[in-house]
Amino acid sequence: MSVRILAIESSCDETAAAVCVDGKILSNEIATQAVHATFGGVVPELASRAHLQHIIPVVELALQKAALSIDTIDAVAYTQSPGLIGSLLVGGQFAKSLALSLKKPLIAVHHMQAHVLANLIEHPTLPFPFLCLTVSGGHTQLVQCDSPTHMTVIGETIDDAAGEAFDKTAKLLGLPYPGGPLIDQLAQNGRADRFTFPEPQIAALDFSFSGLKTSILYFLQNAGKSHAYHPELIASVEEQRAFIEANLPDLCASIQHRIVSILLHKLKKAVALTGIKQIALAGGVAANGGLRKGIQEMAQQYNYTCTIPSMAYCTDNAAMIAITGYYKYLNNQFAGLDLRSTAKATW
Ligand code: KG4
Ligand code: ZN
Repeated sequence: MSVRILAIESSCDETAAAVCVDGKILSNEIATQAVHATFGGVVPELASRAHLQHIIPVVELALQKAALSIDTIDAVAYTQSPGLIGSLLVGGQFAKSLALSLKKPLIAVHHMQAHVLANLIEHPTLPFPFLCLTVSGGHTQLVQCDSPTHMTVIGETIDDAAGEAFDKTAKLLGLPYPGGPLIDQLAQNGRADRFTFPEPQIAALDFSFSGLKTSILYFLQNAGKSHAYHPELIASVEEQRAFIEANLPDLCASIQHRIVSILLHKLKKAVALTGIKQIALAGGVAANGGLRKGIQEMAQQYNYTCTIPSMAYCTDNAAMIAITGYYKYLNNQFAGLDLRSTAKATW
């Protein structure tokens, strides 16, 4: 008997819906919210309102593309945590109402676990255990995944996430939000060895990006003369702008190189500590060209086996919620209608 899952993702600024039948993604629709661009970041209240506008058309489109009618769905999966609470509530209430009216079970999905399981969409026979470097706008985690329904965070950021490091440094360079994809694009024509930014020394498998951001801030304020705070060196706004303009691709390539090297250094350490050589990448930052290339080179050099989801399954999407919903369905992990959405959630 087939298992048909309708999934809804609304944790941040993307309203998404997908349909998955027996682990195969039949549709994966997304409405991106352009409304935030002018504010330099996601405005929670505007995100909630945009989700309300988009959710019905996006779900209808996902069903239509999958050529399934709503009454043939076996369960409704939705992102229950973590994320912006108003955004989570819109998707959560919609999913609950739908499950209730269809008399079908409800499946609550953790957004970060779904990012990890996005790897199973194109690699359903991926062997367990694997180590996943999960890098998004709000999280940076090293996850040991023992089965689709059992995973453990073995390292994570103690301050900014990798995506935030990209977005915040992009802002320092005068680039619009979200700056990660723009740094990636500009880095393609830059020299990564032109500027050297420091690598933080953080214990065990944890990450830190706030020091890097500060050193980039001082470097730009000093128009490339120092990474440290020297009030006597601080250049005029015009000089800073001119320095950035003259060096933009090299700055982007050098910043990207450092963020990628911090991530891969810890991944290599995690492989050494766990002995697990099956590695995977996940999350929005996994769309980064430098990171994708770097992890593949590392895998080749050290004889690891590596999987990376296609771009559409790295950035926020509902297909990853659907695949997670599918495995939870097989494992009888259903949620009650009284389950609350939570902005922050440990595993
Ligand atoms: O996973 P995601 O789509 O949303 C969250 O759950 O946070 O990740 C969004 C993050 C943003 O910080 C964005 O700048 C970053 O992923 N990102 C990238 C690239 N594409 C998205 N960062 C670097 N290079 C990219 N190509
Ligand atoms: Zn995400």
